[in-house]
Amino acid sequence: MAHTICLIASEVTPYAKTGGLADVAGALAKHLHGAGHDLRLFMPLHAVIDRSLHAVAPVPGFVDLPLEFGPHRFRYSLHRAALPHSGAAVYMIDCPELYARPVLYGDAPDEHLRFLALTRATLECCQRMGWSPQILHCNDWHTAFGPLLLRTAYAWDALFARTHSVLTIHNIGYQGVFPADRVADLGIPADLGRLHQDELRAGRINSLRHGILYADAITTVSPTYAREILTPRYGMGLEDSLRERAAVLRGILNGVDYDDWDPRHDRYLPRHFGPGSLDVKAQLKHEFLERLKLRHGPRTALLGIVSRLTAQKGLDLLVDTLPVVLAQRDVCLMALGSGDAHYESFLASLQQRYPDRVVFHRGYSDPLAHWVEAASDIFLMPSLYEPCGLNQMYSLRYGTIPIVRRTGGLADSVQQYDEATGQGTGIVFDDFDVPAMAWALGRALDLHARPAEWRRLVGNAMAQDFSWQRQGVLYEQLYDELAGA
Ligand code: ADP
Ligand code: GLC
Repeated sequence: MAHTICLIASEVTPYAKTGGLADVAGALAKHLHGAGHDLRLFMPLHAVIDRSLHAVAPVPGFVDLPLEFGPHRFRYSLHRAALPHSGAAVYMIDCPELYARPVLYGDAPDEHLRFLALTRATLECCQRMGWSPQILHCNDWHTAFGPLLLRTAYAWDALFARTHSVLTIHNIGYQGVFPADRVADLGIPADLGRLHQDELRAGRINSLRHGILYADAITTVSPTYAREILTPRYGMGLEDSLRERAAVLRGILNGVDYDDWDPRHDRYLPRHFGPGSLDVKAQLKHEFLERLKLRHGPRTALLGIVSRLTAQKGLDLLVDTLPVVLAQRDVCLMALGSGDAHYESFLASLQQRYPDRVVFHRGYSDPLAHWVEAASDIFLMPSLYEPCGLNQMYSLRYGTIPIVRRTGGLADSVQQYDEATGQGTGIVFDDFDVPAMAWALGRALDLHARPAEWRRLVGNAMAQDFSWQRQGVLYEQLYDELAGA
């Protein structure tokens, strides 16, 4: 059944991205549009968005509009772009007061307000378009007040009478907590009784919790993470609310946009490869190592990292294991990322210690991310927790063997390689500790030293299919269930 779907996200590839949320929002929109739904995706017109590159144009009749709630009086305009390789409509809220900032997210006291405004402006644009979405699909804490706003501030409007809300949790580590003395920013003075009262008394308001409490359906980005977040270890304080709503919670593994992430046509690579042309992968590795001025012999293994440098990504395990591996084995390391200062200085010091074997590129670079995926032999992703993770799935397609911890989407997308059967796609370890990480690195390098075994593993990895054709259908089924309800 074709639906009208309003999707809201704080970041969307290729316009503005800090992590996987942007990739997923863009790719899901593409899938839904391609499947024949009337899909409209809303996001802020962030200052980093290149308007001419992406042909972002004002929407006639949607210029200099008022956005008024609580004590606030904003003005905004609506812009529109079409998603590449798709044509799906992306609407961008232009409100310089809120979005003309050098970075997508900050720690200014109005951070919650920026995204409350996005959520409200989206609903008000639906009203001005006279467009009634059957599904309001919110993502992460930024837009998590959507479900409650539908039941309060916008409940009077018959346009939304049949709108069902979905909240997708991409990362429970970010909850959008703000002080209770900013409660007026919600603009729902008559409905404050609907807020989580214990938290209010404790002086705070938790955006994500209210999405969990009021969404008609909750999804998260892998089946394993959907189970994990019901526990204190992974729920980060929201496990009680999630358990209350467990009946409407499900995990849907993210898909991969193979238009962007496939070595057979990767736009950043000078030559392309597939499972039958691994010699090209070897050439690319050679070129990359030469370009990075890394010393290498015929069997040197290249380890790759592309990551936000935060505790979530398991960097603490690498701090203790990489120096040993570099001292003992024939490896080079290419790490791309930025984040917490102590992880950045750890990687910088590793580079200083091994200038001809380690490169740390501090920062963000899309072309380099693709090169790391293509040229590496082994990809390191030993996350402490991982709602889904995209890089391990990208790695599989590029024949770059992921080392992952068995958690969240990593557990759902990488299978332990079994030498006895020749089945499996990567190296998986369970315990978040140094011996387990060291074991995984050792095993990967031992396998890499046996070319026939390695080719088999690489073949298995490259044969995996995480396309949105498969995963998107699960969202469509959810929408069917809700709209039919
Ligand atoms: P998360 O969203 O938690 O950061 P994911 O694995 O879901 O993790 O997605 C990360 C996305 O961000 C991937 O597309 C990855 O290539 C990209 N990425 C992360 N760090 C960088 C970086 N420094 N430069 C370029 N791309 C990056
Ligand atoms: C989050 C998670 C990551 C997930 C991404 C997209 O940032 O950390 O695991 O893949 O969102 O859903």
